[in-house]
Amino acid sequence: MPANVRKILVSNALPYANGSIHMGHLVEYLQGDIWVRFQKLRGHQCTYVCASDVHGTPIMLKARELGVSPEELTEKVTEEFLRDFAAFGIEFDNYHTTHSPENEALVAEMFSVLYEAGDIYTRTIEQAYDEQEGMFLPDRFVRGTCPRCKTADQYGDACENCGATYSPADLIDPVSVLSGTTPVKRDSEHYFFKLSDYEERLRQWIAEAALEKTMVAKLEEWFEAGLQDWDISRDAPYFGFRIPGTDDKYFYVWLDAPVGYAASFKNLCERRDDLDFDEYWRPGHDTELYHFIGKDIMYFHTLFWPAVLQGAGFRTPTSVFAHGFLTVNGKKMSKSRGTFINARTYLDHLHPAHLRYYYAAKLGPTVEDLDLNLEDFVARVNSDLVGKLVNIASRCAGFINKRFDGQLAAELHDPALFATVAGAADDIAEHYEQREYSKAMRRVMALADDANRYIDEKKPWVMAKDEAQLPEVQAICTQGINLFRSLMIYLAPVIPTVAADAREFLAESAWHWDDAGDPLLATGIAAFRPLLTRVEASQVNDMVEQSKQS
Ligand code: MSP
Ligand code: ZN
Repeated sequence: MPANVRKILVSNALPYANGSIHMGHLVEYLQGDIWVRFQKLRGHQCTYVCASDVHGTPIMLKARELGVSPEELTEKVTEEFLRDFAAFGIEFDNYHTTHSPENEALVAEMFSVLYEAGDIYTRTIEQAYDEQEGMFLPDRFVRGTCPRCKTADQYGDACENCGATYSPADLIDPVSVLSGTTPVKRDSEHYFFKLSDYEERLRQWIAEAALEKTMVAKLEEWFEAGLQDWDISRDAPYFGFRIPGTDDKYFYVWLDAPVGYAASFKNLCERRDDLDFDEYWRPGHDTELYHFIGKDIMYFHTLFWPAVLQGAGFRTPTSVFAHGFLTVNGKKMSKSRGTFINARTYLDHLHPAHLRYYYAAKLGPTVEDLDLNLEDFVARVNSDLVGKLVNIASRCAGFINKRFDGQLAAELHDPALFATVAGAADDIAEHYEQREYSKAMRRVMALADDANRYIDEKKPWVMAKDEAQLPEVQAICTQGINLFRSLMIYLAPVIPTVAADAREFLAESAWHWDDAGDPLLATGIAAFRPLLTRVEASQVNDMVEQSKQS
């Protein structure tokens, strides 16, 4: 492998397998997929893993309610996830499950190393217990009146009215959401991870990982509040991995979930001779590890996870990239407004490339929330993708196809203009690398404006009426097609299927990022077919209506 080829492992957060993929999740998976496709296009060895997160009480109870096993439930949900990911062009190198032998073995190894080292200890705690159901209740499964503002029917961990946080024992008139009975307090022995011992090491890791600055500020708040030891166990009944040496204690889902990244990779290594588990997961190798996550799961990924890895003898992530939350039309997604849109519903009405482009046009490297404004969505994809980008090719291809037998000229008409587009490659690459997708999109569209202006000025449709000017028409259209081609290469990570169709039209078998600087000349191209159609407002309205009903 050439020396400048980086070895990169990328993960997306593991979707919790009790629902459907929706537009909010897609921010997460599209951000990751675009970055991975970019790295691959640059020739790096980039591996992209994910898995379904299947353990925990909500899945156990949902399966019970449906009368199926948690395995059956999560396998079925996973099939739907995979169908949706594939439809949106989200191409994991491996998609696994946290309920796997690889994961169980890794979790057991980490637990035993941490336990031996004294990083895990046991302590008896008092917890809400539902006597009728015969189980301990997670905080969210107890409801009651807020002890501070006295609003009725609040969750056991926080009040939605006044924002107070507390424990279920503090609620006035608590009830179990499972049985409606009053929970009792009961003692149970739990396993705790000594997060408090890791502050210094975590501070050092945070500096090395060069986390984005609002993430660092958040971490600083957590450090100031003081790191609390982490309860990593749950009592039976629970769907998860049993803690070795116990009969009725299970690892908390959030302990084994991130281990699922390593387990998915391990599972892939069994099929791939070119990948070595230790090279990516043990300290001291020249590989990179990145986790893409949403801002809501930062605590797990920037405190618990690096501490557990470090203590258990694994490498820590090179960095963690957190994104913000999606709003639709400026508000939280809502079923009644029809803005809680599932991936499947979107696909019934619209092309995945439209959303991929729109999110890219809005995404930056920070945890800032991003808004899917449905009117803006229609205007933006029509004007940028159809009006600017595809238009360049459709204005030139017809002449090449009909007048020049599909042959491109041997020389560019305006090498300086081509050099401008080719010369943007490094800046655009840097934008992708830094997850500044919106900047990359803006730059590409500004270049598309230059290309269209060039064609407007030359007016090949006027020149083509004069036989004597035909050689120049061929050169101008060759120029236009090459500008289009370079821009398509830049956009290939964002709209991969459209780029693949464009590449086919140009009769090329593969693209590398550097090809954008190398014009395609004196070669035959295929007939042009429209690469993307306009979005109509009615499609979006139908999607919203359907979302209201489902
Ligand atoms: N199972 C955990 C992750 C475990 S990772 C070891 C989980 N699952 S989730 O299904 O709830 O969310 C998966 C990802 O989607 C998370 O990164 C989450 O932040 C992201 N999003 C879920 N809803 C979202 C929005 N509305 N907007 C943007 N991202 C959102 O968390
Ligand atoms: Zn309150």
